[in-house]
Amino acid sequence: MTLLATLLLACSSGHRPDGGDAASGFASPAEAEDLDAAADVLHVALVADERTETAAAKSGDHGDTTASGETVVTGYAYNGQVPGPTLRAKVGDTIVVDLTNELDATTTLHWHGMAVPYAMDGVVWRDDPVEPGETRRYEFVADRAGTFWYHPHVNVVDQVEGGLYGVVVVEDPAEPVADRELVIVWQATAGGTGSHDDGMDGDIHDTGAATAAAKSGGDDHDHSAHGVSDPADLLWTANGSASPTVELPAGERVRVRMLNAAKAGYLDLTWPGMRRIGGDQGLLGALDEPERFLMAPGDRAEFEWVVGDDGFSVETGLWTANGGQAAGAAPTILSIAPTGGGASGVPLEWPFDGAAPTEDAGNTDLAYVFTGGADGTWAINGEVYPDVTVETLPLGTEAVLDVRNLSPSEHPFHLHGHRFEVLSVDGVAPAVRTWEDTVNVGVLSRVRLRLVADNAGDWMVHCHLLDHEEGGMMTILRIE
Ligand code: C2O
Ligand code: CU
Repeated sequence: MTLLATLLLACSSGHRPDGGDAASGFASPAEAEDLDAAADVLHVALVADERTETAAAKSGDHGDTTASGETVVTGYAYNGQVPGPTLRAKVGDTIVVDLTNELDATTTLHWHGMAVPYAMDGVVWRDDPVEPGETRRYEFVADRAGTFWYHPHVNVVDQVEGGLYGVVVVEDPAEPVADRELVIVWQATAGGTGSHDDGMDGDIHDTGAATAAAKSGGDDHDHSAHGVSDPADLLWTANGSASPTVELPAGERVRVRMLNAAKAGYLDLTWPGMRRIGGDQGLLGALDEPERFLMAPGDRAEFEWVVGDDGFSVETGLWTANGGQAAGAAPTILSIAPTGGGASGVPLEWPFDGAAPTEDAGNTDLAYVFTGGADGTWAINGEVYPDVTVETLPLGTEAVLDVRNLSPSEHPFHLHGHRFEVLSVDGVAPAVRTWEDTVNVGVLSRVRLRLVADNAGDWMVHCHLLDHEEGGMMTILRIE
C-alpha cells in the first residue's frame, strides 16, 4: 500500500466525514491527528482530494445527463471531511503540515490571519503552486492566539466553494478554559431559505450536490457570476448541517469559534444576549454585547454562550453585499436546545486587555480605492491583478492605510502575513483597540488602518469575496 493510501485510510477511519457526533447530532469538525509526539509540535497530513458520488444516487434531479453508475465529482475535501480537520495548537507551537495534492488542478495552503513566513503563505506570486500528485511541507510557528483558517490560494472560487477550508485554533494557556468549545464553520450554498427541511443535516454530499449545481449553472437562482448572490437564495449550513439543533447542557459556558467560509455570503447574526469575546485576532480589548454582528466572508468571531434553561435560535438577517437588508423573513440557521437542568451558568472572566485605540494622526501612507462593478471588473487603485503596482514599505516601520470603497458592492479588505489595527470606520474610532486581518468596507465607506510592517514578503492585499479576488481585485504590498 502506498504511503498516501495508508494516510487516507488512517484519516478516514477515525472520523465521520461530516465531523458529526452520533451522540449529539452536531459537533465541531473533527480535529487533525497529531503525527508528532513532541508537546510543542503539531504535525498534520492533509490530503486534498475530490469528493465523488455515483450518478444513480443523484436520480437526475439536477437535470444532468450522466449515465447511471458513472462517478461524478461533487466537490473537494481535506482528508475526506468538509470542513477540513481543525488544527489545534498552543501559542509558540511549531505547526508542520504535509499537503498532498490528489486533485486534477494545482493547489496551495494559505494560512488566513496567521503571520507566517512569506515562503509558507501559499501564494503563487513568486512561488510555484503544489502540482497534482505533489506533497509540499508547510512549517511555521503559531505566534498568536486566536481562531484562524486555511484554504487554497489558487483556483480559489472552485476549490474553496468546493469544500477546501478548515480552522486553525491557537490556544493561549492564560485564557480560561470554557466548559465546552464549539467550532462552527458557516458555508452558504445556492438553495433558498425555503428549503431548510430537506434532510441535509450532516450530509456532505447534499452540500456538494448544491455546489455542483451552482458550478454547472443549473440553478436559476445562482447569481454568482456577478460575485453577489441574493441573500434570500442562500442556504446557510453550520459544519455541513442546515439549521441544526445543538443540544447543550444547561449551565455550561461554551466558547464558540465561528468562521464565515462563504465565498460571498454575509452573516448578519443575532440571538438573545450576544457576548462576543474574540474577533479575527483572538480576544477583543473588551467584551462586546451587540444586538447583531456582521460576519463578512473570511471573518472569524468568538462568542460565549451561557446556556440557560431556555433554548434560543441563531438568526441571520438577509444582508446584501450592496449594504442593508433584502426583504424576507430572517432565517433561523441554528437552534440551541438545553438538556438537563444544570445550575445557571455564570460567564467566565476573560482577560481583556482594555487597550485604548491608537490615535489617528491623520497622515496616510498607502491609499487603496475599491472600484468596479459596471462591467464585472473589480479593481484596486484602478488596477486589475496581476497587472498591479507593487507598493513597498520598509520592514519594521508603521504605516496608515486608507481604504475607500467607491463601488456599488461591499468588499472585505484582507491583508496577508499581518494583523492591522482599525483606527476608524467612516471617521469613528472603535471603543477599544481592535485587531483584524479582514475588515468589511461598506459601499462609499472609508476605513483607516494602522499596520506594523514586521513580516518581510510580497503580501497579497485583496477583497475576500472570492469572485472579486479571482476577478483581479487584488494587489501586492512588499515589505522589505
Ligand atoms: Cu483568506 Cu488571500 O485569503
Ligand atoms: Cu469585493
